[in-house]
Amino acid sequence: MQLEAIRLSDFRNFEHVEVVPHERFNILTGANGQGKTNFLEALYLLSAVKSFRSQATNANLIRFGADEALLEARIERGGHERKVRLEIGPRGKKIYLNDQGVRNIADFFGTLNVVVFGPDDIGVLKGSPSRRRDFIDRAIFNAHPAFGTESMHYDAVLKNRNALLKEPKIDGSLLSVYDDQFIEWGARILRRRLDFTEHFRPVLERTFHAIFSPDYHAGLTYEPTWMEGTIDVERALEQDSFVETLLAESLRRTDDEERQRGYTVVGPHRDDLVATLNGREVRAFASQGQTRAFILAMKIAEITYLEERYHFAPILLLDDVSSELDRERNRHLFDFLKNRQSGQVFITTTHRDHILLDDDLRVFQVREGNICSI
Ligand SMILES: Nc1ncnc2c1ncn2[C@@H]1O[C@H](COP(=O)(O)OP(=O)(O)OP(=O)(O)O)[C@@H](O)[C@H]1O
Ligand SMILES: [Mg+2]
Repeated sequence: MQLEAIRLSDFRNFEHVEVVPHERFNILTGANGQGKTNFLEALYLLSAVKSFRSQATNANLIRFGADEALLEARIERGGHERKVRLEIGPRGKKIYLNDQGVRNIADFFGTLNVVVFGPDDIGVLKGSPSRRRDFIDRAIFNAHPAFGTESMHYDAVLKNRNALLKEPKIDGSLLSVYDDQFIEWGARILRRRLDFTEHFRPVLERTFHAIFSPDYHAGLTYEPTWMEGTIDVERALEQDSFVETLLAESLRRTDDEERQRGYTVVGPHRDDLVATLNGREVRAFASQGQTRAFILAMKIAEITYLEERYHFAPILLLDDVSSELDRERNRHLFDFLKNRQSGQVFITTTHRDHILLDDDLRVFQVREGNICSI
């Protein structure tokens, strides 16, 4: 997979830029506040149709004073070239694939796959459970584009169900319609996440050993926090109805509590991913250096997992990570990147000399919303 060309108009602080990247490494250098992260955000939007920044409303994405932002790209995948166009207006986004309007977003997902790693990602391990659910969901989305629409269905039914639970008099037949939908989509999400964790764990263990030390054992467990006891992962993955029954029973068990609180208290939107080092929780016990090594291992393992299990290389977006990693971890990251046979990478930095790459690359200067190859 490769980005062959990209053009941005009235997006963030870019009035008009065109970039023709290298097929391997692209280094974007520039001082603070010049547009480096904005450029990566544009690539991410062309993949997921939403931003990696949580405060990114449509209006925020459009250049101050302009009416509409336009993102256009030429993408190569498996020998085929596709043209993507994303129009962002204050009220909505419109996608075009090879000049045809895309009506069903499911047809678009999977056109471009990216893995992002930024300074903020340290928070995946130290922050709230939602950060870890995001990590897992993005990784699944890359492997299974349909997951994007599945989570949208789940979020929609959850929202409807919560609104209904807040009403003074709850319509029982409507609630049971929502329950069925909730169980259907919730079970899919739960199974996908369990499947991911099972296959991802050994890759992570290997990667962490290589990056840190063979004396440390990295663990990762998916935890449905709303369940009583632990989940039988093997059965959940083998038997379709197992997870559905589990969700149905849990809904029944918490019926009174839900009505009292006015929201849904069970389901995958409440789950967590627990990372451990030698059996101890990273969140509570790991040092700064161990935490950083762990998150780096998670990102490298995510790419390795996609390459090994699904045989494709996502485009990697590294936002200023060299300033976050210590020297040894930084060197490890670049050794990993160089040793991959292929794979396109975009790296932003304020200091070119932090980037330990000398070959197969193009360097771009980002300054006041302009990008030029140097
Ligand atoms: N809608 C918008 N219109 C115009 N400018 C915007 C818009 N949204 C953000 N900006 C500006 O874009 C600038 C660059 O942001 P960006 O995050 O890309 O910087 P950066 O080069 O990554 O800097 P740093 O090295 O500090 O991370 C900021 O000054 C911000 O005010
Ligand atoms: Mg930045």
